[in-house]
Amino acid sequence: MPKIAIVDKMLQDGINLLKNNPKFECEIIEDLSKKNLISKLPAFDGITLRRGKIDSDILEKCKRLKVISRHGVGFDNVDVKFLKKNNIKLLITATTTSVSPAEHIMFMILNISKGIDFFDKSVRKGEFESIMHMKHNTFELSNKKILIIGFGRIGRKLIKRCLGFEMKVYAYDPYVEKKVIESFGGMKVENLPDGLKEADVISLSVPLTEKTKNMITLDKIKMMKKNAIIINTSRGGILNEKDLNEALDKKIIFGAGLDVFEKEPPDNNNPLLKNKRVVLSPHAATFTQECLSKMSIETAQNIIDFFDGKLDQKFIVKI
Ligand SMILES: NC(=O)c1ccc[n+]([C@@H]2O[C@H](COP(=O)([O-])OP(=O)(O)OC[C@H]3O[C@@H](n4cnc5c(N)ncnc54)[C@H](O)[C@@H]3O)[C@@H](O)[C@H]2O)c1
Repeated sequence: MPKIAIVDKMLQDGINLLKNNPKFECEIIEDLSKKNLISKLPAFDGITLRRGKIDSDILEKCKRLKVISRHGVGFDNVDVKFLKKNNIKLLITATTTSVSPAEHIMFMILNISKGIDFFDKSVRKGEFESIMHMKHNTFELSNKKILIIGFGRIGRKLIKRCLGFEMKVYAYDPYVEKKVIESFGGMKVENLPDGLKEADVISLSVPLTEKTKNMITLDKIKMMKKNAIIINTSRGGILNEKDLNEALDKKIIFGAGLDVFEKEPPDNNNPLLKNKRVVLSPHAATFTQECLSKMSIETAQNIIDFFDGKLDQKFIVKI
């Protein structure tokens, strides 16, 4: 009987699916320290993984392991080279993890462009009347240009929402053909600087890889318009935090939204935590009732289908 380790708790919906299946034996592992993972994981044939880093030191000990099913679509917390070499399959929640992140990006864009936090505080402070005659930095999205960097699952959900707001959508993704982007109503940008110079809003939806780490540093931010806002909900480190903080302080760009950080949780002395020009959330782009429930079910179902030999290819990462 395959033994499955549920590494880091997910919603009960997914846990129940595995626990109530008589074909599997499961154990939840909540201590995500390397020491604990290295001692526990060698006993398992499959792993579901939310947070927790699974490196080659751990994987080398896991002689029975056949599959890792990620609760999510990013897999920068797993040593994929090791998996490939040892024919261990990596699965992702490919069909359930894009609507909420796309909505979260819209929420951040709207939060900044409409000055929601400022207005909310003003009403509570009794400044309802005085706000009336102030000049505001808030702006309409209609006719503004958004550059979507990474036109995958999330990028394709985001474009629909942006078009609904009558934005002009540009996409930079060297791996997606022009005609695909155009079929969604967008325009392909062939090189990144061209897009950065034109855009009012920039959103990052790329995986964290050697190539995308520090994709946006100060030199790139300096290419952007003074009124530009940038949103990073993909992974910390793709947008360099130190450079972003400096750019916001020096008013090189207008604002930013961050759901992800180079170190999670960020250190208390991370200057971005005090920077009023950035909107923050705690890696929460998927934190809706619907998304978390569907993700937990898909994570569990993927591992069940894998062992039953009927897993759809779209859930398997081609590494
Ligand atoms: N904040 C969250 O909670 C949250 C939730 C879901 C996903 N994510 C992150 O968002 C990322 C994107 O998710 P997705 O489902 O859209 O992934 P995806 O694989 O469907 O799309 C990623 C796209 O990025 C493109 N890309 C890769 N390298 C690029 C580069 N150097 N320049 C431009 N484009 C590049 C790929 O061609 C692909 O089209 C994930 O890898 C994950 O790290 C975060």
